[in-house]
Amino acid sequence: MRIIIAAMLLLFTSAQSSDLPVEQTKKNIKTLQGLPTSQLIPVMAFMSNSLGVTCGHCHAKDWESDEKPAKETARKMIAMEHDINARNFDGKTVVTCNSCHQGHIRPNGVPSVANAGWNHAAAPQPAVALPTADSLLARLPATPGGAVTRVVTGTVERYNGRDDPKSGPFTLTITADKIDYKSELAHPPDANRALAVFVSVPTPKASRVTGVDKLEMANGEVWTIDEAHGVVTRRHRELVTPLGILPEEIEYDDWRTSGGTKLPFVARWLRADYRVTFTVHDITSGGSSRH
Ligand code: HEC
Ligand code: HEC
Repeated sequence: MRIIIAAMLLLFTSAQSSDLPVEQTKKNIKTLQGLPTSQLIPVMAFMSNSLGVTCGHCHAKDWESDEKPAKETARKMIAMEHDINARNFDGKTVVTCNSCHQGHIRPNGVPSVANAGWNHAAAPQPAVALPTADSLLARLPATPGGAVTRVVTGTVERYNGRDDPKSGPFTLTITADKIDYKSELAHPPDANRALAVFVSVPTPKASRVTGVDKLEMANGEVWTIDEAHGVVTRRHRELVTPLGILPEEIEYDDWRTSGGTKLPFVARWLRADYRVTFTVHDITSGGSSRH
């Protein structure tokens, strides 16, 4: 089991090579100097998510090009964000791109009549009794014990909103001492976290209940649990970047019983820069094939 977990860490975390400041690894960095290179894409994804755009809104074909005026505006906005926070919030990242933009290229400075105070007569919320973490976890299928051999095959698709979706076959092979993911299609390695559901690992510990169907796990992820079906439908994680918090989600769908375990036949990883969908065609568990 220890070997499996070690192998999983290799497969499911992106390798951290020497993290040079981004101005040493990229060609045209003026505002983000000093930012570790590993943070560049999360920062870019955070800005894209805040404005509701894809990378192409600010970038021409060559990433270093300053051809699009929105890129230069973004530099000014990054400086403005730093300045607002330095002057007003002790330098903490309080005001971010999303505080103003909220998914729009141009923030709307005019409030909506629908938001008038008299329209928001706060009806007293009926007190909802939250379930306990244990009762929510108890609904999940038991993790199969012992060494599991499992081969998951299917199609992986990646989409970034700039190019057409691209897809190709993938194979995930889990044996007693090795986890092997194969696909010719390149995609962010973080997307492989969606595949962890196929590996026999103990359910992470829950730390607290944050809603009727929401559990905050000890690793910081929030899981949405479909109690009726006893499955995890969504995993939410937040990544702290110097400009703001970047959300990332994993959705599971089309659960079927395979080799005595409930497994999802669709696993989708979602972040502002990419949507990566794994559609399973076949799962072979301990020698038996079900689909
Ligand atoms: C709101 C505008 C904006 C969006 C959207 C955006 N970028 Fe950027 N990007 C910038 C700015 C500004 C810089 C330069 C930062 C600086 O000068 O310090 C930059 C720099 C870069 C660089 C470094 C290029 C070089 O060699 O100098 C890369 C790579 C990059 N962005 C990738 C992306 C990706 C990938 C996305 C989409 C996930 C994206 N960007 C979305 C504004 C944006
Ligand atoms: C305090 C509010 C505020 C914050 C914070 C903010 N912006 Fe803006 N941004 C605006 C406003 C307002 C405009 C529109 C200005 C105009 O209409 O002339 C704008 C315009 C822009 C534009 C030009 C849009 C276009 O036409 O392409 C870009 C790009 C942009 N912002 C990026 C960012 C980024 C990236 C961040 C975070 C680093 C950010 N903004 C943070 C208020 C804000």
